[in-house]
Amino acid sequence: MSFDRSLKIAPSILSADFANFGAEIRAIEAQGADWVHVDVMDGHFVPNLTFGPPAVKAFRPHVKTVMDVHLMISPVDAYIDAYADAGADILTAHIEAGPHIHRTLQAIRAAGMKAGVALNPGTPAEAVADLLDMADLICVMTVNPGFGGQKFIDMTAKVAKLRAMIGDRAVHIEIDGGVDPVTAPLVRAAGADVLVAGSAVFKGGSVDKPEVYGANMQAIRAAAG
Ligand code: DX5
Ligand code: ZN
Repeated sequence: MSFDRSLKIAPSILSADFANFGAEIRAIEAQGADWVHVDVMDGHFVPNLTFGPPAVKAFRPHVKTVMDVHLMISPVDAYIDAYADAGADILTAHIEAGPHIHRTLQAIRAAGMKAGVALNPGTPAEAVADLLDMADLICVMTVNPGFGGQKFIDMTAKVAKLRAMIGDRAVHIEIDGGVDPVTAPLVRAAGADVLVAGSAVFKGGSVDKPEVYGANMQAIRAAAG
């Protein structure tokens, strides 16, 4: 994975047809997705449950771009090797998920993956000040995690602060939650480069109408500039 700050759209397969993940992943990539965002929820850290390492491993052969795995689980460390084995390119853990995020990021990198750290809306940018040399990605949540289709919470000031803190480091800023053609330009202008979008990408489309996915992504891209 090479690093750049160009705009990347990462559709969240949380909004895909759960009975048809392989075809859905192939469809969004054929329509121009830059990364594939995989939302792992444990029914404990967040009030919703999705899938675990065996499912993520099954997604892997379908993902030709970058498999971006967002863990909304607690604890994290016991599962890091399983997600490495499942083929995650980027593994993101929440700073709120445990007392030892520094150790978690070290372990993610030691397992051969890029390390991401996610911040809930209530967690300030300063919380990652001492982690910037250990992280490859900061995920700024613009909803409280757990569900797709929620209303965007404006975290533009936090994104701008993080962008300044990151400086020349090769660290992505990812936005997750409520991204659509209206909200994308706000966070892009503030310094984000990876935009996760679930509902705004999948709405109106299907594997039989994949061009809708393409048009939805294009609308976000065009708006973000
Ligand atoms: C929220 C997830 C997001 C979510 C995005 O807990 O981490 O990735 O699926 O979905 P939308 O774009 O619908 O807000
Ligand atoms: Zn996510």
